[in-house]
Amino acid sequence: MDVAIRRSFLIPSNEIYGSSAGFYDYGAVGTAIKHKIQNLWRSEMLQKEGFHEIETSVIVPEAVLKASGHAENFADPLVTCSGCKQKFRADHLIEENKDAKKEGVKASGLPPAELSALIKKYSVLCPQCKKPTLSEVGWFNMMFRTNIGPIDGNTAYFRPETAQGIFLDFARVIRNYGSKLPIGIGQVGRSARNEISPRQGLIRMREFTQMELEYFFNPVDQTYPRFKKIAHHKARFVEGAVPPHEVSYGEAVSTGLVPNEIMAYFLYKQWELYLAVGIPASKMYFRKMPKNDTPHYSKGNVDLEVETSYGSVETTGTAYRTDYDLSQHAKHSGQDLSVFDEATKQKIVAHVVEPSMGVDRLFWCVLEHCFRDKTPERDWEWFAFPPCIAPYHAWIFPLMKKDGMDGKAREIEEALREAGLTVYYQESGSIGRRYARADEIGVPYCITIDYDTLDTKSDKHGTVTVRFRNDAKQVRIKVSELAEKLAHFVKEGKVTE
Ligand code: ATP
Ligand code: GLY
Repeated sequence: MDVAIRRSFLIPSNEIYGSSAGFYDYGAVGTAIKHKIQNLWRSEMLQKEGFHEIETSVIVPEAVLKASGHAENFADPLVTCSGCKQKFRADHLIEENKDAKKEGVKASGLPPAELSALIKKYSVLCPQCKKPTLSEVGWFNMMFRTNIGPIDGNTAYFRPETAQGIFLDFARVIRNYGSKLPIGIGQVGRSARNEISPRQGLIRMREFTQMELEYFFNPVDQTYPRFKKIAHHKARFVEGAVPPHEVSYGEAVSTGLVPNEIMAYFLYKQWELYLAVGIPASKMYFRKMPKNDTPHYSKGNVDLEVETSYGSVETTGTAYRTDYDLSQHAKHSGQDLSVFDEATKQKIVAHVVEPSMGVDRLFWCVLEHCFRDKTPERDWEWFAFPPCIAPYHAWIFPLMKKDGMDGKAREIEEALREAGLTVYYQESGSIGRRYARADEIGVPYCITIDYDTLDTKSDKHGTVTVRFRNDAKQVRIKVSELAEKLAHFVKEGKVTE
């Protein structure tokens, strides 16, 4: 976190007034990476599948969230200390208790009475007072509440998930595309949850970004056209107490580990996306969630967890939401949200599989897994981001700020920007120092314009050096071929000579 803040990846929100827990801004470097992750998601999960993207309101009237069940069910277990009056998340306190940990107690998803019993059984203390002063466990609804307009009682909430907006707009969107199932509709946007005790930086924020896809389909056909092509691919799965082991997506469906081909296909897409952004396969796995730990609307959830310094973290949840949301909204709004099924000549309510990915948690995992410490060969910490999500594709340096090298560097900078590459010009400091600064934020290529670039008598005239971040080796490339070659390196993920 210290490195992330120093290098403009992250900034604690409202810092100059003393920041509040659970809110982070992204600095210029962090924003560039975050947008590239979001755009990769758009490309992989929407564009390549022929799906649609929409953008819906973040403030949602209470009626919507009563229908969706969030007003009643979207709560975390809360305990209060009678001494210091502080409030804590009961399941987290239990899971952090030494004896409970030794016995592998899983408190997440348990009802309040069982959590209260566990607090007694393990003599869980208030973490502030270190005394047995914790109350009985109750529920705390996590939605941020507000009022629409000046008249009290017009209650609304900051949406706790982007998904609801997609359900509300479903009927209009599908009508624009011939009212035919299946259809995929996605959204990238902010959600907010008033987490009881946000710690662990980007893992538990009160305002965060989700990338959610709702795939609407006729439940009589739970196949996915492209599934056969990927059924033999493998990922790591955890089943109950069985530690991570490789299972093919085909096997996952046939053994019931995953409810259908549709969900398995989207798990495959997530796994590949995580590999592409730099999470090693050995550090992640899918977990089939136990019944008591699935949301109120779900008939089956599979999470993608990543190992981090905070322990294993759920970064993506995929749910089989059935027709729960559309049926609830049809009932509460009085609108017909069904679709006519040509085969059976009947109206049906579409079922939904939803991969829900949190950008911030994934961003954090990318930072942790791409971080490289100092070595005898390289005296600075650096980031090995895959080029497709690095904050800049390249930094451009004139060897010196004179003899036309700076002008030529500016010219190359402009040409590369025109070609769609994200580049940045740097002229201050020694070349070594500039390489170090580029490595420190994970820039994969450094381009240097030197005397040979401009010297018409040199056999290197018209070329520049390109230094690869991971092995610090250099090649000379013709200026006329630079944009094309760099774009190719980015596409191939090339980071060494
Ligand atoms: P947890 O149990 O860890 O609170 P969750 O089960 O509530 O997570 P989901 O409701 O499945 O999470 O939310 C979908 C995705 O949204 C998560 O996989 C995560 O990436 C992201 N997300 C949820 N809550 C937060 C949060 N407080 N801060 C950052 N990202 C979050
Ligand atoms: N849309 C799933 C979630 O946010 O929990």
